[in-house]
Amino acid sequence: MTANDFRVRPATAIDVPALARLHVATFVETHGGRGPSCAVRERQWGEAFSQRSDDWFCVVIVSPDGELVGFAKGVPHHDIPGYSGELNKIYILRQYHRLGLGRRLLGEVSRRFLASGITSMLLFGDAQNRSNGFYERMGAERLFATNGDFHGGYAWRDIRPLAAHY
Ligand SMILES: CC(C)(COP(=O)(O)OP(=O)(O)OC[C@H]1O[C@@H](n2cnc3c(N)ncnc32)[C@H](O)[C@@H]1OP(=O)(O)O)[C@@H](O)C(=O)NCCC(=O)NCCS
Repeated sequence: MTANDFRVRPATAIDVPALARLHVATFVETHGGRGPSCAVRERQWGEAFSQRSDDWFCVVIVSPDGELVGFAKGVPHHDIPGYSGELNKIYILRQYHRLGLGRRLLGEVSRRFLASGITSMLLFGDAQNRSNGFYERMGAERLFATNGDFHGGYAWRDIRPLAAHY
């Protein structure tokens, strides 16, 4: 299977049950423990889609047999000067890692931000996350606290290369 066998598309309210199940599964794979339940995730995503605005978006990866296998959420960012988009979530089921699907999600997220005039992006992750190598490979710079500590933040000053290449 290659990344080209999968489709990346915007999520809609119809995706909420499958998106909630995917969120639960990927959260547990990534962070361990039990994490929030499917009912909680379904309520959160349901509320988000019912208050649909241009302020945020979610894109999903669909396998050839129609299963959702990954998703990303983008929101505007207003706190740190120089960055106006936030990659709020990005998760892919472990069995589909390293196929190039993360690249495709980042490309799609970047194109969606650019379409609304947002040209930069950051994320607030975990300094110990095993996936941080992905952000670094994708050209993100580390964000450091004023005391020099690294807490897992990454940023792209210009997302146009991501949009163009992936
Ligand atoms: C981060 C994530 C979305 C990346 O998705 P992916 O589909 O595996 O990434 P890609 O296959 O597009 O990787 C692109 C390149 O990034 C690099 N890369 C990817 N994962 C990496 C890792 N864990 N460590 C180091 N480099 C990595 C590789 O260079 C890779 O290219 P290559 O496979 O040709 O060498 C995925 O690992 C994931 O869902 N992780 C768990 C969820 C998570 O931690 N989310 C963020 C925190 S909330």
